Amino acid sequence: MVIGDLLEVEGAETVARIERAGGHASFRRTDVTVPSDLDALVALAESTYGKLDVVVPNAGIAVAGDAEQEQDFVDRWTPQVPAGFLGTPWDVANVVVFLASDEARWVTGSVYPVDGGFAG
Ligand SMILES: NC(=O)c1ccc[n+]([C@@H]2O[C@H](COP(=O)([O-])OP(=O)(O)OC[C@H]3O[C@@H](n4cnc5c(N)ncnc54)[C@H](O)[C@@H]3O)[C@@H](O)[C@H]2O)c1
Repeated sequence: MVIGDLLEVEGAETVARIERAGGHASFRRTDVTVPSDLDALVALAESTYGKLDVVVPNAGIAVAGDAEQEQDFVDRWTPQVPAGFLGTPWDVANVVVFLASDEARWVTGSVYPVDGGFAG
């Protein structure tokens, strides 16, 4: 796995977590708004692993808040989610892992909302 993000410390921590779990990962500081950074990220994937199979574009613009703001967010949004609870990064990651796996080899061109039913 090759990871690109603006945050170098967090990128290195993510690589360490993946490797502690038995996986292989590389990190390159990447600004997804800069085409040459994306070229370099793809080149790193190809030189490290021989090819590129799956791309997960997930750069975000979330604004971190303090504990009170986060609780307000949870209180405001939870009732609007049919599942009755807010998702976690794992809920997204588990779908990505499935779609990237051999178990999804016959899945093409599909859209999977991962939102607890929020979009209806
Ligand atoms: N969290 C949600 O509830 C939610 C809901 C709908 C959609 N999304 C979308 O999912 C994606 C991820 O959301 P998240 O909540 O995990 O966000 P997050 O802020 O927790 O993580 C986003 C990551 O993107 C990185 N990033 C930001 N700008 C970048 C850039 N220009 N180049 C490279 N990396 C950059 C940040 O450093 C961070 O590591 C976003 O596109 C977001 O809009 C999230």
